[in-house]
Amino acid sequence: MKKPFIILSVLAIVTIISVPVVFSDDDRRHYRQRSLGVAPVSSPLYKAECSSCHMAYPAGLLPSASWRKLMNGLSSHFGDNAEIDEKERKLITEYLITNSAEYSEYRRSQKIMKSLKDNEVPLRISETPYIVKEHDELPEKMVKYNNKVNSLANCNACHLEAEKGIFDEHKINIPGFGRWHD
Ligand code: HEC
Ligand code: HEC
Repeated sequence: MKKPFIILSVLAIVTIISVPVVFSDDDRRHYRQRSLGVAPVSSPLYKAECSSCHMAYPAGLLPSASWRKLMNGLSSHFGDNAEIDEKERKLITEYLITNSAEYSEYRRSQKIMKSLKDNEVPLRISETPYIVKEHDELPEKMVKYNNKVNSLANCNACHLEAEKGIFDEHKINIPGFGRWHD
């Protein structure tokens, strides 16, 4: 064999062996956790039924007990009636519980869980200690008194890729105030 061929073959073999080692499942999972933060919504039924008044919040933003409580009280839902068919209510509840924060390996979900006290069952993502802390530097004029936002619950008003589960600081634009620079 000629020298260049030997070098090429060795290179090819080294590449084939090292690819699965360099990018193991763990690396891919960690990359996903870092870049996404929360698993995006994967249920078309949930998205269809729960996104007419606000975004369909990713299930990994609340523990299962919270989803259960929310889904058992839809007739008086933060001042609105959000009741749906019983069959669909059951399917959506099941989806939300299976994908809730305590069963998720995503970074933000774990941070939300860690911030809650034992037995704490928040009805709002925006009132979980982790989410409150992440926003405590924001003045009210950017949130409550900003008529394009109105409420911290309106995640996707500021987090441009909230629906993809991405909440990192580079993907934030506060309406009326512009891009966020920490
Ligand atoms: C008729 C309108 C309406 C529908 C339909 C609706 N919601 Fe809501 N939801 C609201 C309102 C209003 C709030 C309070 C928003 C605020 O404070 O800015 C809210 C808040 C929430 C919050 C808390 C947000 C936070 O972190 O503060 C969750 C979680 C939630 N809804 C889940 C659901 C689910 C699950 C469904 C589908 C079964 C649903 N919603 C359907 C009107 C609705
Ligand atoms: C008024 C705009 C606004 C709204 C509404 C809002 N956020 Fe944020 N969020 C921000 C800003 C700005 C930061 C960065 C704060 C800082 O760096 O001090 C942030 C930070 C975060 C972080 C931490 C990001 C990081 O890189 O550490 C998470 C997670 C987050 N928000 C989730 C949410 C969720 C979930 C909701 C809805 C329940 C929400 N946010 C609603 C503006 C908003």
